[in-house]
Amino acid sequence: MKIDSLIVKGIDAKDNPDHAVVPPIYLATTYVQEDLHDFQSYAYARGGNPTRNNLEHLFSKIEQADYAYAFASGMAAVSAVFSLLHSGDKVLLNNNVYGGTYRYASNLFRDRGINYELVHDFNDLTAEDLDDDVAALYVETPSNPLLRVADIQRLAAVAHQKGKLLIVDNTFLTAYYQNPLALGADVVLYSATKYLSGHADVLAGLVATNQESIAVKLKFLQNTLGGILSPTDSYALIRGIKTLSVRLDRQEENTDRIIKFFSTHPGIEHLYYPGSFSREEKAIQERQASGHGSVISIRLTPEYDQDRFVAALSLFDLAVSLGGVESLICQPATMTHESFDADLQQKIGITKGLLRLAIGIENGEDLLEDLTQALDKAKQKKHLE
Ligand SMILES: Cc1ncc(COP(=O)(O)O)c(C=O)c1O
Repeated sequence: MKIDSLIVKGIDAKDNPDHAVVPPIYLATTYVQEDLHDFQSYAYARGGNPTRNNLEHLFSKIEQADYAYAFASGMAAVSAVFSLLHSGDKVLLNNNVYGGTYRYASNLFRDRGINYELVHDFNDLTAEDLDDDVAALYVETPSNPLLRVADIQRLAAVAHQKGKLLIVDNTFLTAYYQNPLALGADVVLYSATKYLSGHADVLAGLVATNQESIAVKLKFLQNTLGGILSPTDSYALIRGIKTLSVRLDRQEENTDRIIKFFSTHPGIEHLYYPGSFSREEKAIQERQASGHGSVISIRLTPEYDQDRFVAALSLFDLAVSLGGVESLICQPATMTHESFDADLQQKIGITKGLLRLAIGIENGEDLLEDLTQALDKAKQKKHLE
């Protein structure tokens, strides 16, 4: 079955009580047991809940994964995965990793005796670069917010040559476009708050793996750390996932039009999208993913006023996050990646002149008109001054 059919049919109605097409929401926190010897499948909702299990089942099918776990946010998922690490371990992260992930690494690793290193270009990494203390490579591809692309298959081979884990944050593409586990990653994780939910109304995280030894630990961590997804949010996420393919098709179509428009517009000094960095990254992106998603970043040319541009937009709200049906714009340096200090931001290129756009499902023509008029106003301002 193709992925867009799996997304819709991943939960078989016949497995639901009374064959309901939509799975019920189980709110109970505790479950009555048969007797002191014979326990039911569910006991206490932190350990397992039928609605959450329904979601985890659907998600595992989409990811072609044997094991899947749902968490209360993307960061709860990241925290659970980071809890697989031990004192003395080192993690390699891409330098423009999501700000919250970097905030975790830069504030919480040291007390746990864990080291981290930011990698400028994962595509240059070889097995010789992996010291004994490196336990895992943690890769976002495409990365947030510079849309750098890393070769998952090659990194899996490099990591496994030395017995290290490859963890991939697949938030920007989802399994609809890219399947890290099939490409060799050991763990795939998500901020499901973004595309999987799709409507900016659920905060959620998901983790999947094919390895039983990792799965056992993740299940233990889910129950022990307790950052589980609630039944109502599990339901809302199932509902969101069902329309993933049509939303992403539309969002990518709109994004392609905007990329084309920006590529020749004099107001755009630099345009970032997955594969824009180099020919090599473009080839990797095309090889490992069936689409590039709908997050892009831009820098305006000096003649265009950024504040005026943002203020003039009417279809792009100034807000953090991405992956919802509505178009958003944000300034990563001050809104999502403020945990990187100013020097690091400068070094990596997450400066105040960088704007990140998350393209929604609005009419593509309207989005282009909105961007055109906002760029016109951004330019006029400079002329008036
Ligand atoms: C790539 C990526 N990973 C993880 C997260 C964290 O997810 P959440 O906000 O759901 O906790 C985000 C949030 O923006 C993200 O963009």
